[in-house]
Amino acid sequence: MTPEMLYALRDQAGVPSHPLVFLVLGVLTFALHMAAVQVMLGAATLTLRGAFSASQHWRRLAQAMLVTAKIAVSVAIVIGVAPLLFVQVVYDPFWYTSNVLSAWWVIGFIVLLILGYIAMYIFYWQNHDIVADGGKGGVWMVLSLALLLAVGFIVHSLTNQMLFPEEWMAWYAPQGVVNPAGRELHYWHLPRFLFFIALSAPVTGAWLYGYRRYLQGGNEADAVYLGWLRGLAQQLMVFGGVVSVLVGAVWMATLPEKMAWFASSVWLLMAAVALAAVVALPLVLRDRIDSGIWGYGIFGAGAVSLIVVGAAREMLRFVTLLGTHGYNAMDYKINMDWYSTSLFFTTFGVVGGVTLAYLLTVAWQAGQSKGLYTPSAAVTRMGQWSVGLLVGWTVLYFAVGFFVWAR
Ligand code: HEM
Repeated sequence: MTPEMLYALRDQAGVPSHPLVFLVLGVLTFALHMAAVQVMLGAATLTLRGAFSASQHWRRLAQAMLVTAKIAVSVAIVIGVAPLLFVQVVYDPFWYTSNVLSAWWVIGFIVLLILGYIAMYIFYWQNHDIVADGGKGGVWMVLSLALLLAVGFIVHSLTNQMLFPEEWMAWYAPQGVVNPAGRELHYWHLPRFLFFIALSAPVTGAWLYGYRRYLQGGNEADAVYLGWLRGLAQQLMVFGGVVSVLVGAVWMATLPEKMAWFASSVWLLMAAVALAAVVALPLVLRDRIDSGIWGYGIFGAGAVSLIVVGAAREMLRFVTLLGTHGYNAMDYKINMDWYSTSLFFTTFGVVGGVTLAYLLTVAWQAGQSKGLYTPSAAVTRMGQWSVGLLVGWTVLYFAVGFFVWAR
């Protein structure tokens, strides 16, 4: 596949803002997607581990993690859409080819995701009080985890197939015979996939520190449970961190030849240092994690380190496609559209910011107060603003659409 052919596959309309904007947003939203995916997988696994245990601590944790996993799935899906949009804008020749070559799996992805989420809900419906009754129907949670992992594996395959334009013809027409069925996944790299999955352990450890701090904020009376949680969080971070580094090392040792440069690059070094710093953070903070926002800060630092990992992963793609295939994502034709660019950032910052701040404040305060929770006047006003902004946004969306249509 020559660079000219790759360039010919680009959208001739160009992109509506500088390509760097899409690359940076792609990295940021990919990191958020990963954080949600990893909390989802970790919380679901802890639910399985705890629900069937005789220990009350494990059961209590399972109850909390079931709710966490359930919400994390929806967050992972919603935040998964964002990198999907950005990757298909600047890397459309690669992303769409990879998707078309495995079209059945692209559609199957949605079916498996729906089934995986339903399986988790079936487990949830069967388990209203894990602390009192223990767990029931664990097979549903196992099925859910398996399906969600399969979904991740499909995305992994699609993102990796796009990096091998030299193989596309052989995949599309093996031995010269065209096979347009799209029934196969043609390429995957297990160590790479497992690296992102293994990171679930340290990320969930960091999440547990936040959960523990949250309970402390609500004046949790069970000090033994808090102490137990701290030990578990630490174990997950340290052992999970070591396992992730080992799996990452296998990934680096088995990189395809054209990507081998990455193993000795400064990008990899930065990612490794960022991950190690987060794992070491609780050991440095010690008892400070019980005060202020430090307990939450560990997860915040984890999210930052995932951004560094995401940036390194993006460099691997960018440099491979530029160096080996002559495709420069930064020279995409720009057809500057200030309206859509400003609408995007306003939606993200103002509408998203106010609405999310309201929802998080209400959830937070309700969880921290005992008895019936009544929001303050300021919080209620924030809620009214959120609704107003959403209505305004919707009206604007349709108004501009009709205006353009009527012209
Ligand atoms: C719920 C189960 C899911 C799991 C376990 C999962 C896992 C993963 C993993 C491991 C990767 C990294 C692959 C690699 O670099 O090799 C990834 C990337 C990605 N995921 Fe997900 N994912 C899930 C759901 C979704 C959903 C529902 C969407 C979209 C709606 C999505 C969109 C993406 C995109 C677009 C990327 C690649 C971004 C890029 O290449 O820049 N994922 N996911």
